[in-house]
Amino acid sequence: MKPRDDLTASALNLQPRNPAAYANSWLAGTGELASVNPATEEVIAVTGKASAQDHEQVMQNAREAFSRWRMAPAPKRGELVRRFAELLRANKEALGTLVSIETGKIKQEGLGEVQEMIDIADFAVGQSRMLYGLTMHSERPMHRMYEQWHPLGVVGVITAFNFPVAVWAWNAFIAAICGNAVVWKPSPKTPLCAIAVQHLANQAMRECEVSGIFSLLITDSNELAEQFVADERMPLISFTGSSAVGKRVAAIAAGKMKRCLLECSGNNAIIVDETADLELATRAILFGAVGTAGQRCTSTRRLIVHESRLGELRDKLVRAYKQVKIGDPLDPETLMGPLIDRSAVERFLQTIAEIRAQGGEIVYGGNVLKGLLVEPTLALAENDWDVVQRETFAPILYLISSGTLDEAIAINNMAPQGLSSALFTNNLKNAERFLSAVGSDCGIANINIGTSGAEIGGAFGGEKETGGGREAGSDSWKAYMRRQTNTLNWGDELPLAQGIRFGS
Ligand code: UN1
Repeated sequence: MKPRDDLTASALNLQPRNPAAYANSWLAGTGELASVNPATEEVIAVTGKASAQDHEQVMQNAREAFSRWRMAPAPKRGELVRRFAELLRANKEALGTLVSIETGKIKQEGLGEVQEMIDIADFAVGQSRMLYGLTMHSERPMHRMYEQWHPLGVVGVITAFNFPVAVWAWNAFIAAICGNAVVWKPSPKTPLCAIAVQHLANQAMRECEVSGIFSLLITDSNELAEQFVADERMPLISFTGSSAVGKRVAAIAAGKMKRCLLECSGNNAIIVDETADLELATRAILFGAVGTAGQRCTSTRRLIVHESRLGELRDKLVRAYKQVKIGDPLDPETLMGPLIDRSAVERFLQTIAEIRAQGGEIVYGGNVLKGLLVEPTLALAENDWDVVQRETFAPILYLISSGTLDEAIAINNMAPQGLSSALFTNNLKNAERFLSAVGSDCGIANINIGTSGAEIGGAFGGEKETGGGREAGSDSWKAYMRRQTNTLNWGDELPLAQGIRFGS
């Protein structure tokens, strides 16, 4: 794909001043970081790590790139993302397979993740022609008032292992069409996915004759990560990860009066009322609780079931759980792969022990099979137990009995996190009540679909300890820009607002 003649990088003066200095270059880094395949626990590659000097170099390059990129017309910026989307389409199979190998999620989900990148890229390309501001009617004659949106600068993106490429794409593609440069700090558990994506970024940038818009900083050092978050050259940090680390990011950002976009823990519930279609609910619960081995921030962790349906649903779930094939994520028959690492397995076991200690009954599962493979687990529990109030990144689903819909909603909302929620019902009034202001307090609330697997077109994120950020679709782009209100006087007088008279 050739850019339009009037939109080439040279026509728009977008080419780097000193391209040889960094165009598509890789810094060697220091030290070694191993990437482990969780299915086999074998090291599949060893990468370098960024040093403090590398951080400095990457930041300088990104600042320099931003100084030009901000002046590129937004549709031109969209062209870079469009090219990226083409490369993703061409490389979907390979990248999806790599995601599966490095995270342990099944291949279908690896491919789905790359599709999510393609979807948000397409969305961002369209959005690049729709960075709309409002116009207002001024109270003063011959004055025009309007707002416009300008890019922020260099945006830092910190992503988690469980969505090693899609969450970056939500942030990076929208940030780029908004005129920002993006520096990415991926999870140290998934460096290969990040490197593969950066290769595609480099190719897209090369073909569009730009440089430094997307860059990557791989590190497993907390010190460097804190330095990254605190860097005053990045006015926005987008963070995906645990609420504990999110609070730290928020504190550092607040201390510097910079913005952060937080997408932290979820403790997502599905409510099943007395009218629900249990077949539909069972399928959604299975995908929500067992999919990605329970390692999505949107994974279903709590099931709040009307007491009249609990026995029936429990039996259906046990039957469904027995069918789940656990094992090699690349095998098309497999529905659930391994957890990410040893400490995730430890946390799984500690959680099972805690459920038992509380008096909870393990209805299904609870065991480690081999390596990092665990059984998907169903446990009868009470919502107010500490263990239930916590997000454990594992396929453990708590079954909680409830009475009326309002009781179920209260249970749903009685969690520190507020990401996703769902109600299964065939009662219209219940559906509307759940979605109303007295309903779910989460950023995502669904009817007759599960808590996970959101489309990119909506704003993604949640309340309370989930952090309040919104990413991906809808008007999330506004988080990556600064709003400027402009008042322009085209008359010969200087009337003051509020009718104030000042002097003669
Ligand atoms: C995450 O787990 O961090 O809604 C993101 C979903 C996916 C994104 C999950 N589209 O489950």
